[in-house]
Amino acid sequence: MEIQTSYEPELTADGSWTMRNHEIDECFHSAMGAEKEAKQLYLEPALPWLSTPMASVTVLDVGLGLGYNAISLVDWWHKNRASAAKEIHLVSLEKDVDLIRAFTASKGAWQQNWAKERLDYLSCFGAWHDTDKNYTAKYEADGSSFQWTIIAGDALNADLSSWQLDVVWQDAFSPQKNPRLWSVKWFEKLKNHSNPNVCLFTYSVAGTVKRSLEAAGWNYEKIKRSDATHKKQWLRAKLNPMKERGYEHT
Ligand SMILES: C[S@@+](CC[C@H](N)C(=O)[O-])C[C@H]1O[C@@H](n2cnc3c(N)ncnc32)[C@H](O)[C@@H]1O
Repeated sequence: MEIQTSYEPELTADGSWTMRNHEIDECFHSAMGAEKEAKQLYLEPALPWLSTPMASVTVLDVGLGLGYNAISLVDWWHKNRASAAKEIHLVSLEKDVDLIRAFTASKGAWQQNWAKERLDYLSCFGAWHDTDKNYTAKYEADGSSFQWTIIAGDALNADLSSWQLDVVWQDAFSPQKNPRLWSVKWFEKLKNHSNPNVCLFTYSVAGTVKRSLEAAGWNYEKIKRSDATHKKQWLRAKLNPMKERGYEHT
């Protein structure tokens, strides 16, 4: 039986379901496709990091939401272990405990047409207890490991001290509707827990986002796709080495 959340399911153009948050009148994904967005905007750009042999890679999933970005990585790892980094850590942040509970139990309305193998990956989580703050699933095979931690609560208060981030998927609701997760303070927090060669990917190219990134010590560039895709451009950001060391950028 479905676990109810306060959102309403909407079918997207690629056949995957998203949810509408009526409180802020925004969907979790673009109407063109939740699954397509996860693959094209987040998974594919991270493949150079994820495919580094012998390495340990940490991905921060900002806004677990319906779990499309996260599950696309889990699925990729199960199918590409031989060419994947030896150790992958996926850290998902989500403040809505009802969503986490529905997602990890495979009982979200948006999961109704998910492939069985995707739902099976989630069985590692067992039962979600409301009192839990961190929840971890671990997959191991052929000398490779994949550890997935979901941290419940406000991302701005999340304890990230156990990780050094290599890839950040910044997928919060829009800067107009959720400005705290696009603030200078937030991007500074990300910087403080990142490796120097970290790369951040986000769908938003809004001026406020670019200004916050810059003020927090990130250099951004606009990525353009020339092939037929629903999202024509998004942002990739790296740390500004001068600011990272405490010098002002000139
Ligand atoms: C656009 S959705 C993410 C979609 C998701 N990445 C996916 O693949 O389905 C944004 C998510 O961020 C969560 N969120 C918003 N503010 C937050 C905060 N301060 N801390 C943690 N999560 C937050 C929302 O509850 C929502 O689930």
